[in-house]
Amino acid sequence: MESLLIKGGVPLCGEVQISGAKNAALPIMAATLLTGEPCVIRRVPDLSDVKFMGEILTCLGAEVRFQGDSVRIQARKISGSADYDLVRKMRGSICIMGPLLGRLRKASVSLPGGCVIGARPINLHLKGFEALGARVMIENGYVRAGARRLVGADMFLGGRAGSTVLGTANVMMAACLAEGVTTVESAACEPEVVDLAAFLNAMGAKIAGAGSPTLTITGVKELHGAEHEVIPDRIEAATYAIAAAATGGEVPLRGARAGHLHAVFDKLRDTGVKIDRVGPAIVVRRHGRLKPVDITTLPYAGFPTDVQAQMMALMTLTPGISIITERIFESRFMHVSELGRLGADIEIEGPSAIVKGGKPLSGAPVMASDLRASAALVIAGLAARGTTQVNRVYHLDRGYESMDAKLRRLGARIERVEES
Ligand code: EPU
Repeated sequence: MESLLIKGGVPLCGEVQISGAKNAALPIMAATLLTGEPCVIRRVPDLSDVKFMGEILTCLGAEVRFQGDSVRIQARKISGSADYDLVRKMRGSICIMGPLLGRLRKASVSLPGGCVIGARPINLHLKGFEALGARVMIENGYVRAGARRLVGADMFLGGRAGSTVLGTANVMMAACLAEGVTTVESAACEPEVVDLAAFLNAMGAKIAGAGSPTLTITGVKELHGAEHEVIPDRIEAATYAIAAAATGGEVPLRGARAGHLHAVFDKLRDTGVKIDRVGPAIVVRRHGRLKPVDITTLPYAGFPTDVQAQMMALMTLTPGISIITERIFESRFMHVSELGRLGADIEIEGPSAIVKGGKPLSGAPVMASDLRASAALVIAGLAARGTTQVNRVYHLDRGYESMDAKLRRLGARIERVEES
């Protein structure tokens, strides 16, 4: 296993190119199952989760060819069944279920199960499939859905924590090939859902309202091949913005879309970070002292749960008390104890973390527990005095393209080593 060795204390300076969004690329790749014609997806990030989705599609019978940052997928003849060994490695693989049900009228996918950030139920996905007329059952660890006909329906997909991103994606994909009109209320508004809808519409689907809580999907008989460029990764952009702020550096983000980052930039500005558009880049810089802020994670356009851990790392460096409340995933605080190993003072009270920031962090070996927690530890390591070793870096490689190389180009002293 590999780990990252970081010698902290260097302000990050220089430009960073933002890659394609993982959470847009994964469902878009799954959507290619809806047609037998070839699809080409560009600006696909080079990540283990993306490769993994490629493997799943291959196992289902699709032809998948990566070339540079593009992937060509043709799902001429496919099977509707994905087993545990295939699905368990990536929770996001559940988004093959909607396209399989839409195209084949049947799908049998091993239940992905929970993960360190929470229970990750799929009841809302199943509620949507049932509303379209599918029979759904859970048997031997598999969720099986089947329908002779899929018929458009009105449905409400709101849950305990608001909308569901992959649930919306799944239902939207199945409904594209249903008969008649489907209306989804409390649909997820995330840019990744909008990007998926744009790809589906390019394939011949009729989806209106993407980006709003009401989606209208008029079913069509079949979809055809299409080309698409994935949106830039707003979570990656936010992560580099926070890393620049944490190290007191200046980093132009190239290719990021400010329009997807309002909530994050708003909070960063509140802490005293400067964010300006300069030509094609968004320049993030911090020279002075940081101010504490309170943050609550919410569905889009609220503050993203996928940036909560990184923001917490920044708040540990900020004199004063910041309260960070996690409203999306109940146990997404695994980074707290590891940040504590670097000297951070954080207490958890229910869904909130109370960060008493401002004490200098000092390097230590730490363990990554999930993707965004790993990013938070890297940020803390970049700002800490001395050397931080972030173990289990494979979590990071699931969602950040060449993070160590990108950081090195910004002046960070970071290297990848074999875990001792
Ligand atoms: N929920 C339900 N029932 C469901 C589905 C979700 O109660 O059927 C609840 C969840 O338990 C959670 C909330 O709804 O409390 C939101 O979960 P959501 O379904 O939106 O999450 P997801 O679609 O499984 C995607 C991203 C996550 C990101 C969340 C929230 C992908 C592949 N994953 O997951 O990304 O945190 O949306 O924005 O798109 C990451 O990239 O690190 C990551 C975890």
